[in-house]
Amino acid sequence: MTGRYYVTTPIYYVNGAPHIGHAYTSVAADIMARFKRLAGDEVFFLTGTDEHGQKVEQAAQAAGVAPIAFADQVSADFRAMYDVMNVSYDDFIRTTEPRHIAGAQALWERIAANGHIYLGAYEGWYALRDESFYNEDELVTRPDGTKVAPTGAPVEWVREPSYFFKLSEFADRLLELYETRPAFIEPASRRNEVASFVRQGLRDLSISRTSFRWGIPVPGDPEHVMYVWVDALANYLSAIGFPDADNPRAGFWPANLHLVGKDIVRFHAVYWPALLMAAGLDLPDCVFSHGWWTIEGEKMSKSLGNVVDPRDLVAQFGVDPVRFFLMREMPFGGDSDLSRRAIINRLNVELANDLGNLAQRTLTQVARNCGGVLPAQGVPTEADDALLAQAALLPTLMHGHIDRHALTDGLEDVWRVIRACNAYIDHQAPWALRKTDPERMAVVLRVLVDALRVVGTMLQPYMPGSMGAMLTQLGVAEDERDFASLDRPLPEGRVLPAPQGVFPRYVEDAAQ
Ligand code: ME8
Ligand code: MG
Repeated sequence: MTGRYYVTTPIYYVNGAPHIGHAYTSVAADIMARFKRLAGDEVFFLTGTDEHGQKVEQAAQAAGVAPIAFADQVSADFRAMYDVMNVSYDDFIRTTEPRHIAGAQALWERIAANGHIYLGAYEGWYALRDESFYNEDELVTRPDGTKVAPTGAPVEWVREPSYFFKLSEFADRLLELYETRPAFIEPASRRNEVASFVRQGLRDLSISRTSFRWGIPVPGDPEHVMYVWVDALANYLSAIGFPDADNPRAGFWPANLHLVGKDIVRFHAVYWPALLMAAGLDLPDCVFSHGWWTIEGEKMSKSLGNVVDPRDLVAQFGVDPVRFFLMREMPFGGDSDLSRRAIINRLNVELANDLGNLAQRTLTQVARNCGGVLPAQGVPTEADDALLAQAALLPTLMHGHIDRHALTDGLEDVWRVIRACNAYIDHQAPWALRKTDPERMAVVLRVLVDALRVVGTMLQPYMPGSMGAMLTQLGVAEDERDFASLDRPLPEGRVLPAPQGVFPRYVEDAAQ
């Protein structure tokens, strides 16, 4: 069954250069999008940059340029990073674009018209780094007596006129939402955190600022700019043409999946659904929050100087090994550490050895011993049937994992098939059959090609470039790479191109 699929990443702040954390979320969303496209869905994959707010304004000031010039530059750098990471977004929205400004203002007006916004004065704690308000009781006192946000961000006491959103009125409806639609927040551990935050009671949310100018003017009161989070969350609607119901993309709402890091769950799972309820709009299906990368055991930070640019990793290891590493190493939803050692291990063991070697061994034998053409499917033995049945089950298993956003589990199932192929080739020993039983040899190689075809097809979302190359070598035409094509066997006799290794081993430079 096919349908529509709308997946988003956070829109990233342009106060600093893109790093591996941003690449991670976006590659995960890319895998979801590519998978759904191969499954035949009509997909809209949205990403972009969050360009307003005091934090960006200050970063621009520090760089000595106008905020918009600064945003232009960093936003372009995000797109350049996406090109390197092979992220297949359908649209890239910038919150400084007129279409976004119009959409965010329309959302505000709708919420105001429904009676959920009032003018007051805000007095309380604000963490600029998080662009977030915190309650007094959430703050943490450092050994030196200073108070910081639970995230460790410095806080300041702010006091200014402000519009408020009547968030407090939505607590019961939010709790009911988490209760009746548990898939709204995944994984479950995050759902419990969010529910207990809401159960403690919600205060109305300050949604405008007057102390700086770099933001979207509040409709009807341009002295105020919108709180950057209200501005930012509105991107999920403005990108599909909100409030224009005739926009060709309007039908993508509600989104299927907002993929976010665990740092911004509160904004997506509390503020966002409340704002949507207030506007009378449908709610997204799922806010999935993944875990946090540390670098060689340390928190990634500018002050530690250990911020990893994914492009540096790609230059060393290649794009698909990096994409694979990110998805394989971090159990989706959990936390993980990125280290050179771990990348090299995964590349050499799982990619070069388990998969690359298997494909290379199979394909060189077809090239040498079958005249370089695809052998016919023969009469299968029990061992052949067992392997082919295991491979044939993979698409169903993968659909289940992808729908649960279990991207790492998906890889584990693919590797179970790869390991079964390796056991099969060792056991069947086609190189020995060449002399004793060439007909059987051809059947064995064909079984391996067929199993590898399933593996390559299902791995395309994770490693599009190298799996494309592998499928070409297996004789799979470009229009035979969607999931539905797996039901049609490849015709025997197809001429295969000369095999070429897809995943070279990484040999550590002794000088390093
Ligand atoms: O929060 N590990 O933008 P942001 C894993 N503009 N993921 C990480 C990470 C890490 N160490 N560091 C960052 C904002 N991320 C807002 C979003 S959405 C309407 C507005 C990823 O630039 C992760 O996805 O601070 C996290 O949620 C996001 O970057 C935060 O990006
Ligand atoms: Mg952040």
